[in-house]
Amino acid sequence: MVAALKDKLGRTIEYLRLSVTDRCNLRCVYCRSEDDCPKARELPPPAFERIARAFAHLGGKKIRVTGGEPLMRRDLEEIIERIARIPSYRDISMTTNGHGAARRIAGLKNAGLMRLNFSLDSLKPEKYAAITGGGNINEVFEGIDRALEAGLTPIKTNTVLVRGENDLEIDDFIELARLRPIEVRFIELMPIGKFGEDASKHIPSDELVAARKHLKMLPQEAAQPAVTYGIDGYAGKIGFIRAVSHRFCDTCNRIRVTSDGIVKTCLGDNSETSLLPALRQDDSTLIRVLEEAIYQKHSGHHFDDGYQSRRNMNRIGG
Ligand code: GTP
Ligand code: 5AD
Ligand code: SF4
Repeated sequence: MVAALKDKLGRTIEYLRLSVTDRCNLRCVYCRSEDDCPKARELPPPAFERIARAFAHLGGKKIRVTGGEPLMRRDLEEIIERIARIPSYRDISMTTNGHGAARRIAGLKNAGLMRLNFSLDSLKPEKYAAITGGGNINEVFEGIDRALEAGLTPIKTNTVLVRGENDLEIDDFIELARLRPIEVRFIELMPIGKFGEDASKHIPSDELVAARKHLKMLPQEAAQPAVTYGIDGYAGKIGFIRAVSHRFCDTCNRIRVTSDGIVKTCLGDNSETSLLPALRQDDSTLIRVLEEAIYQKHSGHHFDDGYQSRRNMNRIGG
């Protein structure tokens, strides 16, 4: 058994969000800016495997593949397969916008993927296309259905709530959980990128929960960003990720590594540590650099403090 790694504030770090590309086939309003064209060099599969192994050596137990859109990588299955060879990872998941997912579900499952989260920001086809810059909502539902059939569960959907865009659809989203055994999650818009910096678009989760007395709070899992609720008679659950209105940084258990090999220990802080020099050296050097970056993990986000992120969300991985 590998001992758990703690940062200098005593938080146990065991969850790696590994972004494998900053490219995406969509252009969600809150995620990418007009002038943003991905240019960073993406690491090859063996480099991701080395990073995942180094993190496992330090106590890592959970890994999530993110993007951009991970499906943009043709070698995604190889990346997952390499990660799945590492025995420490009990939870290997991925976050996707679902476009092109359905036909790759079987291959991803064979490679070792265990579960999927889908971004889904409107249930109205035209609105969905407008928010995502041309997305086709049928692709998302096909992906969810195939993933349910393949047992890539539990499946979660992520809806970033934006006042004036999709806030009148909340009860329709909640209905998705009536028959489907999925967790329907609402995410508070974070001030990352120009769009999210506009406070008039933010909706604090508490007002949404207070207005819905049928939501019954469930026992909460440790170090989980979502507060979850059940509804009598519903197959699924409802979750709220209150990253802006309720700081959950004290119990944060994660770090991020970007597709170009940069460690970001906090989503809402601009500090970065490059793994590129260590990737040119041996595994023990890589482990030491990663360990030091984790130890120095930043205390928490600066969302309430005029924060300006140097990276858009597609270059962080959510
Ligand atoms: P599960 O393992 O299924 O709970 O997934 P997850 O919530 O960790 O991953 P997902 O990619 O679905 O993330 C959902 C949303 O939560 C994204 O918008 C993330 O940016 C946000 N989120 C995840 N971790 C953090 C965090 O540490 N801080 C903040 N502020 N937001 C986070
Ligand atoms: N605020 C909150 N969530 C965001 N995501 C992307 N950009 C933002 C933002 N500005 C979410 C996506 C996806 C997850 C990985 O990050 O909806 O589900
Ligand atoms: Fe692409 Fe995901 Fe960003 Fe939307 S949120 S533009 S789907 S990376």
